[in-house]
Amino acid sequence: MAAGIDDIAIYIPRLYIDAADFADNRGLDPVKLQKGLGVSQMAIVDSNQDPACLAANACLRIMQKNKLSPDDIGRLYVSTESAFDESKAMNSYVIGMLEQVYGQGAFEHCGGVETKFACVSGSYALYDNANWIRADEADGKAALVVVSDIAKYDMGSSGEMTQGAGAVVMLLNDDPRLLAFDPKVTSTSIKDEYDFYRPFGKETPIVHGQYSNLLYMIQVRKALEAYKRKVVSSGLIKMEAGETILDHMDYINMHLPYSNMGKKALAYLVRHEWRQLPRWKNILKEIGMDEPIPKDPRGTIESVLGDEEFMAKDHEFTKLFTKTQAYQEVYESKLSSSLIASTMIGNLYTASLYLGFRSSLEFEYQKGIDLEGKRVGFGSYGSGSSAMVFSGVVQPAYKEMVKDMNLEAEIGDRKRLTWDEYEELHENKLSPEESMVHSKKEFVLVHVNTEKESRGERRYIFNE
Ligand code: HMG
Repeated sequence: MAAGIDDIAIYIPRLYIDAADFADNRGLDPVKLQKGLGVSQMAIVDSNQDPACLAANACLRIMQKNKLSPDDIGRLYVSTESAFDESKAMNSYVIGMLEQVYGQGAFEHCGGVETKFACVSGSYALYDNANWIRADEADGKAALVVVSDIAKYDMGSSGEMTQGAGAVVMLLNDDPRLLAFDPKVTSTSIKDEYDFYRPFGKETPIVHGQYSNLLYMIQVRKALEAYKRKVVSSGLIKMEAGETILDHMDYINMHLPYSNMGKKALAYLVRHEWRQLPRWKNILKEIGMDEPIPKDPRGTIESVLGDEEFMAKDHEFTKLFTKTQAYQEVYESKLSSSLIASTMIGNLYTASLYLGFRSSLEFEYQKGIDLEGKRVGFGSYGSGSSAMVFSGVVQPAYKEMVKDMNLEAEIGDRKRLTWDEYEELHENKLSPEESMVHSKKEFVLVHVNTEKESRGERRYIFNE
């Protein structure tokens, strides 16, 4: 039985901090954000928003757009790393909000959990729900997988340049109009790591930035190796001599903590894949230097990062490699459209990969390219750490879904925050009633209880 993404909807908070204002106030060169990281604007949540109401707003959009009733939905999973409760799952809050619109008890038989594994948990949730459909357990119903996060880092930290917030929801069923997942090829890698983590009670993560960049690429490459073995052994793809698996992916969507990380990761994967092929000779000729090797080629990530001479040479080599015509073609045709939304919105943790997918659909369609039958590869990464690589094929009905996609319209009017407003929001100085946007037809947080017996209870309303 087929399973895949039938439709996709987003909810992005309408406040943002502009990269130029950010750089100005942090004494940075704005070009570092805009060109170095690929960050132009970062979405910031209002004082009456949390990840649960971002998720509920995205769900309401997809349900209303597709005229779905709660009876059509058999499962609702929320994947997040911005949880605010150690026990109560975020899907329960989302169902509570949706029932304010659809009636109490309307989702009584809609199963689901909150899933956690940093940014990769949404991909695990998609995989599990696709398998629920493939196993014929769905009884004709669809699943909603919502990925929702607030990427928030300490004031003044280097992570602060890579913030963002928002939710993406995907409707999964057995006759998907957008993308059917390739069966039996989803592959993972996993390792106990501390590149990025958020201990209990801490609102912001502890991050080892450069370590996390390298680990992301290594883990995705390992998952890609496993994916390669599976596509060949399952007969999904027949690889000819001189080809790489990436030649068989028309589009590649990467996890995007900032948009340039997608570029970095793609360059890393392509380099790794091409190194073994006849075409590599020509690439080296065009670059004009040999590929550098670390002093200790089988050493740890720390030893590689500590090898300053290698790091500098490798940086130079990567820059030259990304300028080669062969790489530019791969980048432009397979990745570039997926980065546009990330540049405008920032990191959405679990939702970043899927915002990228949505961005790729919209902007490739605008180029007039026919996407039907094209294979889309996904490189998902979550710190801590695990990667997942999987793929799917764009379905004939995609045009009907994609023709009306309009990122700017879906985000709505945005308010550019002043630095004082940004600091007040970041430091949680405003109460929900002091929100900056007076939103209509949206769920908002109105109260978090502080009394001993009901501490942490949250109340939401639907703003008519
Ligand atoms: P940094 O170390 O301050 O930045 O912070 P940098 O020195 O690496 O510079 C960034 C880029 O800007 C570089 O480009 C510089 O050359 C360039 P590259 O060499 O890499 O191509 N640059 C400039 N360009 C033009 N003009 C200038 C200029 N100055 C520098 N004047 C870092 C960067 C990402 C480390 C930091 O922001 C951070 O720690 N962010 C949070 C962690 C993160 O996003 N890690 C990504 C991988 S891990 C991941 O994706 C998982 C995650 O999403 C969490 C999860 O799984 O839940 C984070």
